[in-house]
Amino acid sequence: MRSNDCGDLRSDHIASEVQLCGWIDRCRDHGGVIFLDLRDQSGTVQITVDPNQGPELFSIAETLRNETVIQVTGCVRARPDEAINQKLNTGNIEVLASDLQILNQVKGNLPFSVSSHDEESVKEELRLRYRYLDLRRERMKRNLKLRHKTIQTARAYLEAEGFIEVETPVLTKSTPEGARDYLVPSRVCEGEWFALPQSPQLFKQLLMVGGLERYYQVARCFRDEDLRADRQPEFTQLDIEMSFMDQEQILNLNEKLIASIWKQVKGIDIPIPFPRLTWKEAVNQYGTDRPDNRYGMELNDVNDIMQDIGFKVFSGAIAKGGSVKCINITGGNNSISNVRIKPGGDIFSEAEKAGAGGLAFIRVRESNEIDTIGAIKDNLTSSQIIELLNRTKSKAGDLILFGAGETTIVHKTLDRIRQYIAKELKLIPKENQKNYWNFLWVTDFPMFEFNTEEKRLEALHHPFCAPNNEDLGNDPKSWSKLLPKSRAQAYDLVLNGLELGGGSIRIHDAKLQQEVLKTIGLSQEIANEQFGFLINALELGAPPHGGIAFGIDRIVMLLTGEESIRDTIAFPKTQQARCLMTEAPANVSKKQLKELNVESTLKDTE
Ligand code: AMO
Repeated sequence: MRSNDCGDLRSDHIASEVQLCGWIDRCRDHGGVIFLDLRDQSGTVQITVDPNQGPELFSIAETLRNETVIQVTGCVRARPDEAINQKLNTGNIEVLASDLQILNQVKGNLPFSVSSHDEESVKEELRLRYRYLDLRRERMKRNLKLRHKTIQTARAYLEAEGFIEVETPVLTKSTPEGARDYLVPSRVCEGEWFALPQSPQLFKQLLMVGGLERYYQVARCFRDEDLRADRQPEFTQLDIEMSFMDQEQILNLNEKLIASIWKQVKGIDIPIPFPRLTWKEAVNQYGTDRPDNRYGMELNDVNDIMQDIGFKVFSGAIAKGGSVKCINITGGNNSISNVRIKPGGDIFSEAEKAGAGGLAFIRVRESNEIDTIGAIKDNLTSSQIIELLNRTKSKAGDLILFGAGETTIVHKTLDRIRQYIAKELKLIPKENQKNYWNFLWVTDFPMFEFNTEEKRLEALHHPFCAPNNEDLGNDPKSWSKLLPKSRAQAYDLVLNGLELGGGSIRIHDAKLQQEVLKTIGLSQEIANEQFGFLINALELGAPPHGGIAFGIDRIVMLLTGEESIRDTIAFPKTQQARCLMTEAPANVSKKQLKELNVESTLKDTE
C-alpha cells in the first residue's frame, strides 16, 4: 500500500514518485492550494494538493477532515525557501499529490484533537475512554517506544549474561506479596479457585530448584490493592532469579543492568556501584525506607535533649516510648512564613495528613537566639539550645520543624514535610543537573513487622527471604527466638524516592522455611496446605538462590518524566481499577455464573 513512511522523506527523495498512507494530522486551505499534514508512526510530511492536478482530486481534498485515513500518490519536490520548516524532519520537502484515496472516514466529532499542533490538555478520563486516539498522539507514542527500548535493553543485557526467559503460569495459587488476590473460579474443579499471580515468586524459586540457574521474565502481575499514581492492578515486572550467587554479586549484576538501560535509553552514564543505606539508617535519617536523598533536611533525633524538658508535648512523647525528631530548613526564616506552619497552613496540613497532632517550630536568630512559642522557649536552657543548633547544623536564618509522638507517625510526618518543602522550595535537581538520577540500595530490612490489627508478625517483603546469617546463628534450636528480630538478606532499589525494585536471597532450607511460616502465625497444617509444594522442593536438592523484581512501569515513568505509570501503559486502568474503553469489569450472565458455581452475595437489583 505504500512505498515509504511519511517521516522518512528527505531531500534525497526529490523527484521520486511515492505512495504514502496515514492519518490527516491537519488540513490548511491556502487560497486555492490545500496542504495536508499526513502522519504515520514515523512522523508527518506535507502533502500539497494543487487544483492544476485535476478538479476531481481537489474536490476530494476539500472534503477531508482531521484523522481521516488516506492513501496518497505523488511526487516529492523541494519546498520553496520561504516554506522550509526547520522544526520538521521532512521540512525541506513536500509531496505533490497526483492521486488520493480515502481508506477510512471519520464519523462525527473527534472527542479531542490528536495533532501535536493543538497542544490542548485533554482530561485523562477522555484520553482513557478513547485510548486508541490518545495512542496516536506524540506523547503516548514516545512513551511506548521508550518502554519497548527499555525492555529490549534489559533482555539483551540479561541474555548476554546467560539468563533465559521462562514464562510462569497466570492461573495459579495465591503467592503472598501483601495485596489481595484477583481470583478466577474453576469450572472443571467445582468450587475451587485460581489466583492470578501477585508475582512469579514461587515459580522462579522452583525454576532454580529445577536447575535453570539464571531466569528472567517480563512478567504480568496482578494485585488488588488501593491504587495510586505508581500502582496499577495489573503491572509488569522484570523478574529475575539466579542460583549460586550471594547478595553482593546480585547487587553488582543488577547495577550493571540498570546502568545499561540508562545508557541505551537516555544516553546517560550512571555511576556504579550505587550508594547504599541500611534500612535502619534510611528510616532514621529520612523517616522512610525509600528516601529521596538528593536534598538535605535529614531527620535529627533530639530525644536526649528534650526528654526532661517542661514542654510536655516533647518530654511526654518520649516518656511514652515515642520520639522527638526535627529537620532544619536552611534559610527557612525567609522562605517559609508562620502562616504556612500554623494550623490552617499548607505545611501544617501536610503534617496533619501524616497523622501528626501539631507542628512545633523554632526560628533561629543571630547569636543563638530562638523564636518560638513560650512553652518551648521558656523550657529550654541555653546549653540545650546550643546542643540543638549544633545537632541540626542550624544557623541564623534557619527554621527547625519538629515531629513529636509515636515514632512511626513522627517519621511519616517529617518524611512528608521534607518532600513537600523540597518541591515547594525547588530543592530537587532538574533532569539535566548533577545528581538528578540518584540510585540507592536500601539493604538489611527486618524480616518481619508487627501487624497491629491482626496482632501478629508478618513478613516485611515476603516469607521466602533468607534471614541474615549472623543474626540467626547456626543452631536451629534458637531459630524461633532469634528469627523475629533478625534482619533479612533483602534489598530494594530506590530512585529519587520511588521504589523501583526489590529482592532478596531466598531460604533454601526446608526447616528454616517452615520456621519462618510458623513465625508469621501459620499452623503447620495451613503452611503445608499453602506451601507444601515449596517445602517438598526445598527438601529435594534446592540450590542457594536469590533474585529481584523491578517495576517496569515505574522505570519507564521515570525515564519518560511522566508522573503516573498510567502514561507508560498502553491500556491502563483508572484509580477505580476500571478500563474506561472496554468498560471492564462488567456483569456476566447468570448462566456463566451457574456454570462456575458462583453466586453473588450482592443484593439483586433486577
Ligand atoms: P515487590 O512486591 O517489591 O517484590 O515488587 C517488585 C516491584 O514491582 C513494582 N510494583 C508495582 N508496580 C506497579 N503497580 C503495582 N501495584 C506494583 N506493585 C509492585 C515495584 C516493586 O519494587 N517477588 C518480589 C520480588 C523478589 O523478591 O524477587 C516482589 O514482587 O517497582
